[in-house]
Amino acid sequence: MRIFTNTAAIAVSAIALSVGTAFTVHADDSAAIKYRQAVMRAVGGHTGGAFAIMKGQVPYKDNLLAHAIGLDQMARILPSTFEQKTQGGETRAKAEIWQDAAGFQEKIREIQTAAAGFLAAVESGDQAAAREKLGSVGESCKGCHRKFREKKP
Ligand code: HEC
Repeated sequence: MRIFTNTAAIAVSAIALSVGTAFTVHADDSAAIKYRQAVMRAVGGHTGGAFAIMKGQVPYKDNLLAHAIGLDQMARILPSTFEQKTQGGETRAKAEIWQDAAGFQEKIREIQTAAAGFLAAVESGDQAAAREKLGSVGESCKGCHRKFREKKP
């Protein structure tokens, strides 16, 4: 019964997906921009949550691994959200992202390395390493934002 339910759910999702695709073919870039910002907020949410736990501001130590995994996963999909050079829309992404692709790639590498290192440290239970790697994650945000994100208007 359970298998049947899942199969039915997958079939429904597949239909929903194909309908969705049909409607989004001619969408403008605002959906891609909103998606990019949503992924970035997920990056920010996991980082903020991890910092609050590591600093002892909240007692949710058991949640740290989930944030580390989430951050690592988000860092992996982050580059896909910049593949498309978006036009118009409400975005703070600078044109330099696509003009200086190598420089931007370097910043992507920094967050991916830091996030993977943080996950490894949390998994191993090495507190000092986790603290250091989370610091590197924080630096990677600033490094990219300074160069590739417009200042708040
Ligand atoms: C490789 C570059 C890069 C890295 C690394 C990066 N960001 Fe960003 N971030 C951006 C850009 C570009 C934008 C603007 C996106 C837009 O408006 O389309 C942004 C936007 C954001 C936003 C605003 C999202 C919104 O709702 O508009 C938050 C929050 C954010 N970043 C948090 C973080 C945090 C926290 C980190 C580090 C853990 C981080 N970012 C790492 C490039 C980066």
